[in-house]
Amino acid sequence: MPEEKTFYLETFGCQMNVHDSEKVIGALMQQGYRQVQTVEDAGLVLYNTCSIRDKAEQKVFHRLADFKKLQSQGKRFGVLGCVAQQEGARIFERAPHVSLVCGSASYRNLPHLIEELEAGTQRITGLDDRQTDETFETEFTARSNPYRGYITIIEGCDKFCAYCVVPYTRGKERSRTSDSVLREAQRMAEQGFTDIQLLGQNVNSYRDPSHRMSFAELLAAIGEVPGIRRVRFTTSHPRDFTRDIVDAMNAVPAVCNHVHLPVQSGASSTLKRMLREYTRDQYLERIAWMKASPREISLTTDVIVGFPGETDAEFEETISLLDEVGYDGVFSFKYSPRPNTPALNLPDSIPDEVKAQRLAILQERQRQIQAARNRRHLGENIEVMVEGYNSVRGQWIGRSAQNKTVNFVAAGAAPVPGGYYEVRITATFPNSLAGELQNTSWVPEQTFTAPPTLRVLQ
Ligand code: 5AD
Ligand code: SF4
Repeated sequence: MPEEKTFYLETFGCQMNVHDSEKVIGALMQQGYRQVQTVEDAGLVLYNTCSIRDKAEQKVFHRLADFKKLQSQGKRFGVLGCVAQQEGARIFERAPHVSLVCGSASYRNLPHLIEELEAGTQRITGLDDRQTDETFETEFTARSNPYRGYITIIEGCDKFCAYCVVPYTRGKERSRTSDSVLREAQRMAEQGFTDIQLLGQNVNSYRDPSHRMSFAELLAAIGEVPGIRRVRFTTSHPRDFTRDIVDAMNAVPAVCNHVHLPVQSGASSTLKRMLREYTRDQYLERIAWMKASPREISLTTDVIVGFPGETDAEFEETISLLDEVGYDGVFSFKYSPRPNTPALNLPDSIPDEVKAQRLAILQERQRQIQAARNRRHLGENIEVMVEGYNSVRGQWIGRSAQNKTVNFVAAGAAPVPGGYYEVRITATFPNSLAGELQNTSWVPEQTFTAPPTLRVLQ
C-alpha cells in the first residue's frame, strides 16, 4: 500500500492569506493529500506566513523552531506566503529543516513544486517577483465556511506606500476578468453561499482585463447574482475610491453598507511622507460621499502611529480625524520598519515608549467613539446572519450587514447557522451589540457537513 499523503497547514496574517490557504488546501487535496489537524500526524507541514510587521515575521520563525525536533521523523516543512517571498532561500539558513519556500505570487506553481518534493528534491523554491502577470486560480477551493466565502478579484499591489512590504511580497497588480469572478460568484451561490467578500490589496484598483466592467459595476453585478444576500469588499485605497462605489451601494441592497478605508494618518504632512497620494481633505471628501448616502454606511480604518518623524501635533491630527469621522472600528499599529521599503531611508525616530503611548491614547479614544456609536443602535431591529452559538454565554452569534457582531438570545426554535434573522438590540458595548431574536428573514435549504478547517494565528 502506498503511504497516505497528509499535510498540516497553519495560516498567519490577513484575509488574503486566509483565502490563499483555502486555495492551497484545495490544490493539495486534488493532488491526493489529506488535511490533518496536528503537526505530528502530517507528512508535510506548511506555514502560510505574514511579514507586514516585524512581530508577525518573528512569530513564523519561532513556530518553525518549535517544530524542528520533528524533522527526524521524516517530515517535510514548507514556508509559504509573504515571509517566503521576502526572505527566499535565506529561510533555509535560518531554518535548515525547511525544504520548500513558495512566495505568495507563485502559488500557481505549487502543484509542480510539491511533485518535485515528492520526487525527493531536498530544497526547492518558487519565488516569482514583480514580473508575473498571472493570478492563482484553482479548480477546487476548500472554503472553510459554507455560507460566507471570499473571492479574489485582484492580486498584488502597485502603490508602494513608504512603510509597506506588500508590493514586494505579493507582486504587481493583476486583476481577474469580470467573467471569471462572476462565474465563481454564481457557482458559490448555487452551492448555498449567500455572503461574498471580494478581496484584493486594493480592490478599487481593479481593472477588468476584458474591459467589460469597472469595480463598482462588478460589485453591483455580484450583488445581483440570485441567492447572494450580502457582498462586501476589502481593502480599499482612498486614492482609488471613486464615487460610483457609493452609487452601487445606494442602488443594490445586497452590497453591504460597510467600507474599510485605511487612512493611516490624519495629518497631510505624515501622509506625504508615507507616500499615500492623498491629503486629509481628499480623504474626508470620500467620507462625505458616504455620509451623504441613505444607507448609513459603517466606516472602519487602519492607522499607523509613530511613523518616522511623526510629531505630537501630527498625532493630534489623527485623533481629531477619528472624532470627525466617527469610525465603527479602527485597527491601529505601531510603525514597524520593513525590509526593502522606502521608509527605511527615514530614521525610525519615534521611541517605542512614545509609539506605545500614542497607541494607547488612540485606542482609548476610539473605544469611547465606538461605545457612543453603538449606543445609537439601542432599540433598533437589525438583520444578522447567524454564525454560531456560544454555549458558555447561552447566546447566538450573528453579524450585521455593517459587519458588527450581534450576540442574541432566542426564546423559541433555535436559529439555523447561515440563516438571516431580525434581532432587536437591547444592549450595546464598544465592540458588539446584544439583543433578542424577533423574526426569521430567511433560512438555508441545505444543511452542511463539517467544512475543512483553517487554523489562523493572529
Ligand atoms: N508598520 C506598521 N503597520 C503597518 N501596516 C502596514 N505596514 C506596516 C508597518 N510597516 C498596517 C497598515 C495597513 C495594515 C494592514 O497594516 O495600517 O493598512
Ligand atoms: Fe497579508 Fe500583507 Fe501580511 Fe502578506 S504581509 S499576509 S499581504 S498582511
